[in-house]
Amino acid sequence: MNPVVIGNATLYHGDCRTLLPEIQGIDALVVDPPYGIGYCHSGHAGKGLTKARTRFNKLNNGYVLGDDQPFDPRHLLDVAPKIILWGANHYADKLPPSARWLIWDKVCSVGSYGKWTFADVEMAWSNLKGTARLYPHLWNGCRRAGEENSFLVQRCHPTQKPVAVMSWCIQLCDLPPNSLVVDPYMGSGTTGIASLRMGHRFIGMELDPAHFETAVGRIEAEHDRLNGAGSQLLLVA
Ligand SMILES: C[S@@+](CC[C@H](N)C(=O)[O-])C[C@H]1O[C@@H](n2cnc3c(N)ncnc32)[C@H](O)[C@@H]1O
Repeated sequence: MNPVVIGNATLYHGDCRTLLPEIQGIDALVVDPPYGIGYCHSGHAGKGLTKARTRFNKLNNGYVLGDDQPFDPRHLLDVAPKIILWGANHYADKLPPSARWLIWDKVCSVGSYGKWTFADVEMAWSNLKGTARLYPHLWNGCRRAGEENSFLVQRCHPTQKPVAVMSWCIQLCDLPPNSLVVDPYMGSGTTGIASLRMGHRFIGMELDPAHFETAVGRIEAEHDRLNGAGSQLLLVA
């Protein structure tokens, strides 16, 4: 299948279990796979602003492909020298021990931790050297920090990550410029946006056609912005 090439990004619509073994020279694998938790968004998309700012329910009923079965990360473990795997607390039994787990704290307000059905934090396993690290970034219903602020943009994937969190991951990989970052489960392309912004090449793969289309649109917009073709405005609240 021919990929979509957008500047330094190459995007494949297809199954990464077939596509990934064909890719050579990967410097870092920064991955947000289906966690295997049978995730399906409620379909109600919250109320008020959260509902108004959620587009993905109209695409595929909020289902994440592959999430209905336990995730097995073993096909990812030998393909790059640096690897970060989000959601790894759900499949930690299939991973080697690591001292450098990464924690994204969604910064629930004081007194709110433990009160919501969604997780207060997300966890990533990594094979990086060093001790565990924490990154605080508000992401609580319609309350979202930075460029994904609900007042400014729509959320476009049921398990979308903030660009800031994926940028933090790439920064921790400590890569020389123009390195090759790969996310074989790219969803709406968040890791791709972070990679281009940080001066790296990116290869992304996505099985769901609706999410693939979203990723192409978002990465095209980022490429245009970085190259001066689109609006220079990056909205950060
Ligand atoms: C957790 S989501 C990624 C969300 C992404 N981080 C974002 O910010 O939008 C995982 C994605 O993997 C995709 N997926 C599931 N199985 C796949 C496979 N075998 N190959 C490629 N993509 C797959 C799903 O469709 C889903 O969009």
